Amino acid sequence: MPNVKAAVFASGTGSNFQAMIEADLACDIVLLVCDKPGAAVLDRAGLSGVSTFVFDPRAFTSKAEYEAKIIEKLYETGVTWIFLAGYMRIIGATLLEAFEGKIINIHPSLLPAFPGKDAIKAAYNAGVGKTGVSVHFIDEGMDTGPVIAQESVKIFPNDTIQTLQVRLQQLEHRLYPRVINQLILSK
Ligand code: GAR
Repeated sequence: MPNVKAAVFASGTGSNFQAMIEADLACDIVLLVCDKPGAAVLDRAGLSGVSTFVFDPRAFTSKAEYEAKIIEKLYETGVTWIFLAGYMRIIGATLLEAFEGKIINIHPSLLPAFPGKDAIKAAYNAGVGKTGVSVHFIDEGMDTGPVIAQESVKIFPNDTIQTLQVRLQQLEHRLYPRVINQLILSK
């Protein structure tokens, strides 16, 4: 049976992309889609030999237009799953319809708490005793689709935002590949 092919969408550092590349995944990551020319994740893709599709949303007149371009690339490369990993953009109807039920995201909070940007800082500043990581299906909202898996971490009195961030990232790097494998192998 040919291997399942997947794309990662990322906008920034790409530590989750790296974790997926290094994990024993039940699929091949064949494409990185990036909306930020110059993002560090592109260097990681270059080093690991993963093809990239980089675009600047400002060069398009609408989300539908650039998502149609992305879909072309996904079809060309035979991608059937999309993993968002720090892709800081809402997925539009064009992509949602083309990849229904096949787009998942990781987010550094216990959703529905603290959606959106800067979730780690928001949880820290809120003074809650625990936060965590969620993996969820994408819908038209921001970090709102059905949750597939969650794991929590305690916030200790001597934590800083940085120490908390390190702990959450370590958890993300373990959790995301595990959930991806469970999903792919169950289909
Ligand atoms: C990750 O912590 C991911 O959960 C978060 O962006 C970071 C990307 O880090 N995503 C969101 O906040 C989505 N709302 P990375 O570029 O090092 O993988």
